[in-house]
Amino acid sequence: MNAKKVIIDCDPGIDDALALLLALHAPELEILGITIVCGNVPTTQGAENALKVLQFANRLDIPVYLGEAKPLQRDYVDAMDTHGSDGLGETYLPNVTQTRPHKDAISFLAKTLSQQTKVSIIALGPLTNIARLLQKYPNCLTGLDEFVTMGGNFKSHGNCSPVAEYNYWCDPDAAKEVYEAFTYNPLLKQKQIHMIGLDVTRKIVLTPNLITYMKFLSPRIGNFIQTITQFYIDFHWKQEGILGCVINDPLAVAYFIDRSLCHGFSAYTTIETEGICIGQTVVDAYDFWKKEKNSYILTQTDIFRFMEFFITKVFAVPSDTTRQMLQQILVVHTDAPLPQISQPCFSSVQTCERGVVL
Ligand code: RIB
Ligand code: CA
Repeated sequence: MNAKKVIIDCDPGIDDALALLLALHAPELEILGITIVCGNVPTTQGAENALKVLQFANRLDIPVYLGEAKPLQRDYVDAMDTHGSDGLGETYLPNVTQTRPHKDAISFLAKTLSQQTKVSIIALGPLTNIARLLQKYPNCLTGLDEFVTMGGNFKSHGNCSPVAEYNYWCDPDAAKEVYEAFTYNPLLKQKQIHMIGLDVTRKIVLTPNLITYMKFLSPRIGNFIQTITQFYIDFHWKQEGILGCVINDPLAVAYFIDRSLCHGFSAYTTIETEGICIGQTVVDAYDFWKKEKNSYILTQTDIFRFMEFFITKVFAVPSDTTRQMLQQILVVHTDAPLPQISQPCFSSVQTCERGVVL
C-alpha cells in the first residue's frame, strides 16, 4: 500500500494531540511534517505539545515547524479555558529536549508543496498558516493533492458564538482567504476543501467508559489519553453537562484515511469576517449565488464506526473484537418512539428516550 503524504497543520490542543496519535498509528499516512499555528495555545506552546506527542509515539524523526503567531487581522484569542494553560489539560508534561521545533512553517509548506507531488494537508486549527502560504507563494500548490480542514459548521450551532466555530472564528480572514482561493487559484480550481465541521464532530464524544476500555487495551496509551483529556472532560461537564469530551480533530484524520466515515455535499462556502456573526461559515447549500462549489461539507458520520477506526488503529485491536466491545459500551441513539409496555419487563435491555442502553 502506498502511504499518502501529508502535512498536519494544527494547534495542539487536546483533540489535536489525539488526532496526531491517530495519524502516527496509521500506516496509510506518511507524515512529512507538522506545522503549528496559533490557536488553542500560542504557537510556541503548541510546538512543545506536538513534540511531546511525537516523543510519546517514538516519532521524533518527524519535524515540527513554528507557524504564524497571530491571526491575519484579528487580535489573537486562545482556547486555554478548554485545553488548559499548557494546551494538554494542565498535565505540564516535561518539554522534549532531544530536538527542537524548526522555524518558518510557511517556507516548509511552500518548499514541500512545490518540490513534491500528491502532498495533502490536514488542517486542525485556524487557517492562518495556510492563508499566509497562499499570500506569499500562490503558485507553490502544484504539489497539493487534497485539503481537509477541521473547522466551521453548517447547521450545527457554534462553539464560540451562536454561529461560529473556534478555528474559523479565531481567524475568519484566513478562513475566508483559503476558501476563496479554492474558487480563483488556477492550481486549486479543480479541488475542494473537505470541511469536517461541528455538524459531524459533535457526534464524536470520548466517554469515561471508552477511556476505561482503552486503558485495559493498553495501560500506557490509555493512561496517556486519560491524563490529557481529564481537564477537557471536566470542562464539558461544567459547560454542557456532557459526560465525556467532544474530540473534533481526530475525525478529520480518520475521514482523510477512510472517506466512508462521513458523508456530505458540495457547495460554495465563505466565512463572515466582521460584525455579530464574525467567523460564521456561510454554506450556499441551495446554490443561490451560482458560485464555484469550492467545498465539500461533511454532515453525517457514525460514532460507532469512528471509534472502531480509532481503537483498531491506535490500539492495534482486531476490528471484530472492537465492534463487540463497542456494542456494549456505546449508547446507540435511536429515534424509535418509546414502546407501550403493557406489563413490567425485566429484560436487561431498556429503551430510554435518547437511546438504547444495553
Ligand atoms: O472548534 C474545535 C476546534 O478548535 C478543534 O480543532 C480544537 O482543537 C480547536 O482548534
Ligand atoms: Ca485543533
